[in-house]
Amino acid sequence: MQVSTLAASAKFAFYQEICEQLHNLLVNERNLVANAANTAALLKQRLADVNWVGFYFAEEDELVLGPFQGQVACTRIPLGKGVCGKAAAEKKTVIVPDVHKFAGHIVCDVASRSEIVVPLLNWGKLRGVLDVDSASLNRFDEDDMEGLESVAAVFMASLASDDLPDLSEEAAIG
Ligand code: SME
Repeated sequence: MQVSTLAASAKFAFYQEICEQLHNLLVNERNLVANAANTAALLKQRLADVNWVGFYFAEEDELVLGPFQGQVACTRIPLGKGVCGKAAAEKKTVIVPDVHKFAGHIVCDVASRSEIVVPLLNWGKLRGVLDVDSASLNRFDEDDMEGLESVAAVFMASLASDDLPDLSEEAAIG
């Protein structure tokens, strides 16, 4: 089933199912690239009306492109810039109902009209972001936020902590 038309309680169950599926997919693997690639692929397969799903990983004061599904994308985003940089700098999920109304939005796929970016945190430290774009306006709501934050937590739990690049405290504050 695809998620965009589901009611809130059904959406919760849908994301719960995705989290279980993801856990089963990642549980015996600790490699960062392998697990990020499969997470992006699973989300692209399961989420309706989504044109780009992928990761950026924190390196010093930048986010660097990781595994993704969708059109080619910009490789480096400074912390604080664009939707990804904002979510990273604030360590909080950012939902953008209309990317044309977000000052500083960084265009990768011109088809994208709405976006959600979830920070990847390990013991409070920023390790990167999970970015999901849609070609529809207002595609993501609070239920998607909760669901994708759970997905990010399952992904992070699958990794050995030293698989991820380090980020200085200064950069983490943004
Ligand atoms: N739109 C993002 C850039 C990444 S792409 O959407 C893949 C941003 O403003 O940070």
